[in-house]
Amino acid sequence: MIMREEQRDIVFRYKARDHSCWMVRAAMRTDLDDLVALDDITKPVPWGRDAIGGFIGCVPGVFVLCPSNHLGWSLGAPVGFVIARWLGDECEIMSIGVHPQFRRRGLGGMLMDAVKKTALAYGRTSLILEVREHNKAAHSLYVRSGLLEVGRRPRYYLDTGEAAILMRGNLLLGGGE
Ligand SMILES: CC(C)(COP(=O)(O)OP(=O)(O)OC[C@H]1O[C@@H](n2cnc3c(N)ncnc32)[C@H](O)[C@@H]1OP(=O)(O)O)[C@@H](O)C(=O)NCCC(=O)NCCS
Repeated sequence: MIMREEQRDIVFRYKARDHSCWMVRAAMRTDLDDLVALDDITKPVPWGRDAIGGFIGCVPGVFVLCPSNHLGWSLGAPVGFVIARWLGDECEIMSIGVHPQFRRRGLGGMLMDAVKKTALAYGRTSLILEVREHNKAAHSLYVRSGLLEVGRRPRYYLDTGEAAILMRGNLLLGGGE
């Protein structure tokens, strides 16, 4: 697949609390095996290869988070990912995951930040998503990223019967920082 030039340019660089360096970049076809493995290990109901692959090459599509050095060179395979799409003037985060060994270092926040910046750059005004009612880690990450609860769909998830909490952040108001 030929990646659109605008998507190839999407790269964000971050430094974690422990001073390790990270980059968030648009996923490429060559990331698909790693993405499928991350999807398997992080999600109760993995999306699978075809669904993830269908978003690679889209904008915003799939971003991966990889270790890097202070010069910005990629040093290894992805340890996190996020998948998002445009819905009118909104950006929907559909999936996000960080490898269990790398959690609570701020990496989920970096993925959220990269999506927010991309959405703003493309003129989107809000960020929306759904989260399982018992997924406290994700819910906390989203609140920390400036999203608020705006609704609830009872018994939305068929595997557990959990409700879906609907959340939204206004990107024009910081979305929030
Ligand atoms: C949700 C997830 C992506 C968070 O990734 P992460 O890299 O650990 O997130 P961060 O380190 O950036 O955390 C940012 C903030 O979120 C909150 N948070 C994250 N994990 C938390 C947990 N287990 N319990 C409570 N709060 C948590 C905290 O406020 C945290 O800030 P702090 O560490 O300064 O207290 C990760 O736990 C994960 O991959 N979970 C499985 C997949 C999933 O549930 N995805 C969401 C549904 S699609």
